[in-house]
Amino acid sequence: MSDKVRKTIIAGNWKMNKLRKEASELASALVAGTKGKENLPEIVLCPPFTCLDVVVAAAKGSPVKVGAQNVDHRDSGAFTGEIAPPMLVDCGASYVIIGHSERRQFFGETNQTVPLRVKAALNHGLTPIVCVGELLDERENELTDPVVKRQVGAAVTGLTEEEILKLVFAYEPVWAIGTGKVCESKEAARVVALVRSTLKASFQNKETAEQVPVLYGGSMSAKNAEELLAQDEIDGGLIGGASLKADEFLEIINHACKRPRLSATKA
Ligand code: 13P
Repeated sequence: MSDKVRKTIIAGNWKMNKLRKEASELASALVAGTKGKENLPEIVLCPPFTCLDVVVAAAKGSPVKVGAQNVDHRDSGAFTGEIAPPMLVDCGASYVIIGHSERRQFFGETNQTVPLRVKAALNHGLTPIVCVGELLDERENELTDPVVKRQVGAAVTGLTEEEILKLVFAYEPVWAIGTGKVCESKEAARVVALVRSTLKASFQNKETAEQVPVLYGGSMSAKNAEELLAQDEIDGGLIGGASLKADEFLEIINHACKRPRLSATKA
């Protein structure tokens, strides 16, 4: 049994928003706003590729980490428009979002491409934030659990136990993304727990799966963050719209600061 403590992580997915100057200002405001705070969660800012360097510069010397929103699985080559893992590392990124529903819906990301990207990211020392979640239609047809299980199982294909322990997952019900319809906190916690229990199949010692951080994403805001983060199972948030304004994102971070650090070992 391990007494490893699961990290609380508050990550902002800026999606296709912000020019470089705006990105630099937002990141600087967040760095200033978190300075000196106690019990800070791990804060990860995921700007568009074009803003990675200015956000890295703004975060320099602070605990704030920087991530990208997608990555190719190859290191280099004739793949017009793609960005390779070493390029992200070169820019100073340490995280990367993989399998976001918007990539799955609009850009051909599948349960086959996700594990390739996850493996490539890990090979280059990047921490993947792997997104899973069901469509509205799937929820209405009671397919949430099989869909999420399939996505989680696919994402860890071919990974060792040690590699899986380096992952962060985010449960993002697609119907809750950008809609203002937040998943009820108990239900979000239930599916987050399902992500971890699905991972048990990959570990000899099943308890080890308890160490993997799983976030919630989908209309998380300053208004609902406290209740969502009060759920022991939910280790933080992957936040879209509410991460674009410094004041609101800082309010969410403040709620996360009040969270006790949870031991991954169940009493
Ligand atoms: P919103 O917070 O805007 O709903 O977006 C969530 C999300 O997709 C984060 O990756």
